[in-house]
Amino acid sequence: MQLVLATNNKDKIREIRNLLDDLQVTILTCDDFLDFPEIEETGTTLEENAILKASGISEFTGYAALADDSGLEVDALDGAPGVYSSRYAGSGCTYADNNRRLLKEMEGVPEGKRGARFRTVIAIDWGDGEIETVEGTVDGRITTENRGVDGFGYDPVFFYEPAGKTFAEMTLDEKNKVSHRGRALIAARERIARRLIGGIELE
Ligand code: IMP
Repeated sequence: MQLVLATNNKDKIREIRNLLDDLQVTILTCDDFLDFPEIEETGTTLEENAILKASGISEFTGYAALADDSGLEVDALDGAPGVYSSRYAGSGCTYADNNRRLLKEMEGVPEGKRGARFRTVIAIDWGDGEIETVEGTVDGRITTENRGVDGFGYDPVFFYEPAGKTFAEMTLDEKNKVSHRGRALIAARERIARRLIGGIELE
């Protein structure tokens, strides 16, 4: 089976390759194709965007394709920033800008109402008309200030209770074991393994 990863992000590519290492799957990436397109994320949900990317890349390459989309959903903000997580503070903003805006929006929200979760949706377009999606989530709480220097994005403001630390205070290994992306990838791995056992031939 050939599976194209619909991302240019080298860290994601490494993580996915690592997780699918022992399966009979040839992983292809943007480096294997000329003029690999960047699919615009025009959807209004994580699921829509993941499907848009997987299907766009499957159509372009003719192979099965896997794509992910993630976001932070904050209860007190009715699920915002959600699908707009990367551009919460405006287009071209930095992670620090997003965290600043989030902490401002959360000013005055009491400890017990600061619940949030990271969510990842992974879509696999099998290239034969079938599309599957799986998801992974991790629950936490929004802090009142940045804590920690590791990680990226909202990690410094996402407190993970079982570890007693923010994601930015955890090592990458610690975070990957419990993260939304890690959990979604494990679910995707099961779907891929099931498809292989089913013996369905792709391209
Ligand atoms: P993407 O779909 O993985 O590119 O994630 C979209 C946005 O969600 C990122 O730009 C971050 O702002 C946020 N995000 C996703 N995953 C994480 C994470 O593990 N830690 C912190 N922020 C994240």
